[in-house]
Amino acid sequence: MNAASATARPLAQPLAPLPVRTPAYTSAQIALHWLSVSLMAALVLSGEIRHLLTSQTTVTMRSVMVVHIGCGMALLAVTLARACVRMTRRRAAATGFRMQDACAHAVHMAIYAVILGECLLGWIIVNAKGFAVPLPGTGLEFPRLVAADPALVITAIWAHEVLAWMMYGLLALHIAAALWHHYISRDDTLARMRLRVRNARS
Ligand code: HEM
Ligand code: HEM
Repeated sequence: MNAASATARPLAQPLAPLPVRTPAYTSAQIALHWLSVSLMAALVLSGEIRHLLTSQTTVTMRSVMVVHIGCGMALLAVTLARACVRMTRRRAAATGFRMQDACAHAVHMAIYAVILGECLLGWIIVNAKGFAVPLPGTGLEFPRLVAADPALVITAIWAHEVLAWMMYGLLALHIAAALWHHYISRDDTLARMRLRVRNARS
């Protein structure tokens, strides 16, 4: 046995767990986080299907856009609610590593900002095309942010696409960090965002 293998930690031995931090998120925050994840998945799927479809008039295209715009406006509302809760509550408990906490904070804030920007741009595209954004099931419409403007449509679609790519990059970083905490660092970061199901017998 050489010196390196003698000092190496056996793979099966668990790492010393970091001290379990106090739950930083309320049940409402956790539920809103996972609701955002579902809405984001529907948005990415419908956005990319829209990108692949070429015809502007098919029934499939219309249905995809109804889902996309509905989920987008729902995500806007959920994100505004999350931002309000976030401002009135302490942010996520610190890990003790300043640089790591600063990066996590920066990525979280960027995700909030890009979602808000992306949703407003989507709303502007619809208005600039000459339509209002409907409030599903009510017959009501959201106010128009801009008048019909074909030049603005082109710019807003371009910006909507650029922000979508920024969003994918941020989410890839975010998900990779969550997995790193869980499998490599083995701390309680992911556990604090786990949905807490009430036990009916307790
Ligand atoms: C975070 C939220 C959102 C994401 C990630 C997202 C993503 C996308 C993506 C990837 C596309 C395809 C772009 C392309 O054709 O290359 C798209 C298209 C579109 N999105 Fe969104 N979107 C979001 C929110 C919204 C909202 C809230 C609305 C409207 C209120 C909206 C309206 C539209 C429209 C109208 C198009 C079609 C644009 C065109 O005519 O080419 N989006 N979106
Ligand atoms: C499978 C995918 C995902 C996992 C495993 C995950 C996991 C987590 C975890 C563990 C945290 C807490 C981080 C901490 O306390 O330091 C967190 C926070 C956060 N996540 Fe995710 N996430 C996922 C997807 C998403 C998506 C798609 C979005 C955007 C819609 C998102 C937005 C956020 C935001 C904004 C925070 C910060 C919450 C705050 O402190 O206000 N996450 N996520």
